[in-house]
Amino acid sequence: MSIRLSSAIPGSFPNVRGRRLRVTEGIREMVTENRLHPSMFIAPLFVIGGNSTHEPIPSMPGYARMSIDLMIREAKELYEAGIRSVLLFVKAEDELKDNEGTEAINPDGLMQRAIRELKNALPEMYVMTDIALDPYSSYGHDGIVEDGQILNDETVSVLEKMAVSHAKAGADMVAPSDMMDGRIGAIRKALEVESFYHVGIMAYSAKYASCFYGPFRDALDSAPGFGDKKTYQMNPANVREATREGQQDEQEGADIIMVKPGLPYLDVVRAVRDSVSVPVSVYHVSGEYAMIKAAAEKGFLDENTAIIETLTAFKRAGADLIATYFAKDAARIISGS
Ligand code: PBG
Repeated sequence: MSIRLSSAIPGSFPNVRGRRLRVTEGIREMVTENRLHPSMFIAPLFVIGGNSTHEPIPSMPGYARMSIDLMIREAKELYEAGIRSVLLFVKAEDELKDNEGTEAINPDGLMQRAIRELKNALPEMYVMTDIALDPYSSYGHDGIVEDGQILNDETVSVLEKMAVSHAKAGADMVAPSDMMDGRIGAIRKALEVESFYHVGIMAYSAKYASCFYGPFRDALDSAPGFGDKKTYQMNPANVREATREGQQDEQEGADIIMVKPGLPYLDVVRAVRDSVSVPVSVYHVSGEYAMIKAAAEKGFLDENTAIIETLTAFKRAGADLIATYFAKDAARIISGS
């Protein structure tokens, strides 16, 4: 529908009228600066043991942990909706957890089986995997603990083995999310030594110590047993530090640099986009998902509009890829199905 832009007094108004480019749907589409496409979405999936098991996550309405068979079914639906990559997380049984995260490198562990079976069933799906010890740690920390401290280099050597074991199972890209120093270079080297030249690394380079991971920790039962994650995850007050971390990880061989969380950190996405040359991804995290869901459930927000507006903001801030629990919804909204 066209709107009237004429002035009451002809010729009395400036020549420049921004509204001319907003008059119709057609012109608005023509001058759109940032567009979303399903291939830029990465869908996180939570895997549990068992068969035909589907466990809804109360703090993430509409999202569930799934056994491998159901996860594969979901991955097929995602692929049909145009999504080309998934990011796998597993919830390990309590009895498998220890301080060293031993289960993380079990060649027949849940993650390794999930990767293998998914790549068998749907080889064209690009499979990314989380590399961090927290789901396997009896302390719920991302690193090995000694005297209340999170050990850096000892943790990195487990992460190297974990990355290689995911690569052996068929992962296309590993995503170290623990913020230990030097892990990207170490993992790159370990992958090269084992001839996994083609396996990429998506580095969580600017991962903040954020309250917005709360629902995720419910999903994986991975909340820290003592203290917090502030000695390894970043201070939400900092942005220069994010560009430094991003540049360092790029130097160490990261193929994609990630910023996390998303919406409260759009300035960080922009700063990192402007300071590295590899693709930048952003993680629209569990707490951000929960906020939109909760507001929509109460009728305070229109869910679909909130999803697209939020994801478009990531693109506008400079993100090339977006990890989001809304991946399938967004793909469907964009394609109008
Ligand atoms: C684990 C990890 C976390 C998330 C992704 N990988 C949680 C944490 O660091 O405590 C959060 C994802 C989300 O909240 O959606 N290292």
